[in-house]
Amino acid sequence: MNTSDNRDKGTVGGSNQMWGGRFAAGPSAVMREINASIPFDKHLWRQDIAASKAHAAMLGACGIVSADDALAIGHGLDKVAAEYEDHGVPEDWSLEDIHMTVEHRLAELIGPVAGRLHTARSRNDQVATDFRLWVRDAIDALDQALAGLQRALVTRAGEHAETILPGFTHLQAAQPVTLGHHLLAYHEMLARDRSRFADARVRLNRCPLGSAALAGTGFPIDRAMTAQALGFDGPTANSLDAVSDRDFALDYLQAAAQCALHLSRLAEELVLWSSQPFGFIRLPDALATGSSIMPQKKNPDAAELVRGHSGRIVGCAVALMVTMKGLPLAYSKDMQDDKPPVFEAHGLLSLSLAAMTGMIADAEFRTDRTRQAAELGYATATDLADWLVREAGLPFREAHHVTGAAVKLAESRGVPLDRLPLTDLQAIDQRIGEGVFAALSIEASVAARASHGGTAPAEVRKRVAEARGLLEMG
Ligand code: ARG
Repeated sequence: MNTSDNRDKGTVGGSNQMWGGRFAAGPSAVMREINASIPFDKHLWRQDIAASKAHAAMLGACGIVSADDALAIGHGLDKVAAEYEDHGVPEDWSLEDIHMTVEHRLAELIGPVAGRLHTARSRNDQVATDFRLWVRDAIDALDQALAGLQRALVTRAGEHAETILPGFTHLQAAQPVTLGHHLLAYHEMLARDRSRFADARVRLNRCPLGSAALAGTGFPIDRAMTAQALGFDGPTANSLDAVSDRDFALDYLQAAAQCALHLSRLAEELVLWSSQPFGFIRLPDALATGSSIMPQKKNPDAAELVRGHSGRIVGCAVALMVTMKGLPLAYSKDMQDDKPPVFEAHGLLSLSLAAMTGMIADAEFRTDRTRQAAELGYATATDLADWLVREAGLPFREAHHVTGAAVKLAESRGVPLDRLPLTDLQAIDQRIGEGVFAALSIEASVAARASHGGTAPAEVRKRVAEARGLLEMG
């Protein structure tokens, strides 16, 4: 049902059939429109039906409804699920949300016995339960997607354990590094993201069902039973908190925002690296676009959109934080606005991860260009200083000074450091010997940095092996 159909329908009709007992007239068109969450919370239909089935089974087991009624409700819910699977969820604004939409259809299918399902519960504990289940699934899906990107990074890092890349600070050539090392830096960030999501999942996994509207219920329910049926670790401990807590959604969004920032940094590198002045990579054709006016162009749109989406994902986290700020206990309708930012962030992040995984897996690294670029900017100056400390016993500060003079001289001649004749180096400091040249090559420079977590190829290979084990890459 489209939006204008919904708005035109029954401006002031009879009172609402689900809760309208005390109302003389129905809601205005505007009231119905502002109240309706079905356009977005229909995405919760699977979770809503699962939670209702668990609730009905529990009501039956506890003798709160008859075993026959519980069975009829369970079968009816299965039919509703089958219909939604085949034809989608109908959108009728007068039914407001997914909870009433499901219950209404159930009543059409099985008759008045459907009305027993809402015993000992409220939409407040229902939505809190459904949404937790949805976010839990979202976390599990993201964990898989993040592991996929980690695998792509680790595979490429293994291929490029020895490939030379200029390492930057301030985006100025600093010291040469290996490409494998650089890629593994992102593997670390994603490992932290996964642990943040896993952590959020632990806190999320308590079941609010049975908290009812806000105060709990007088019916002899078994909360442990519904919690278990829905895969929760147990019931929540305080009904007021349970119906008004959205920390689990915020935990999710904050972890998503952090993850999006990581992807954005990597995306930025891909944009830079694929530009002509860098020329470090060629992005796969399948994940780039052309220009309608400049035939030569190949644009890194997917990387730019990953970078751009991070802004929207951070915005989603901020939106829900601001929505929740200052809400008194317990449930307030403001909370209905919790879902769109979570759905949006999840969609954007999932897509970003898929695009990034494709780009990393299939990018062509132009190792001749990265090697050349690493020659620029006197990137092995630190190696000269380190050599003076190690071999000639200078204090590092003095070695730094001597090296500065050597860089100045090389710059004035327009040559790399290792092309300065020994006599010229000795004129700067006579303690410099022939052996220095071995330390000044780019390969020697990276090989020397074999401290734990350093850029040396041998070290990168160790970290790749560890990561492959953790990611079960065989
Ligand atoms: N659609 C509502 C939401 O998403 C469900 C809870 C409504 N509760 C209520 N008392 N009106 O928050």
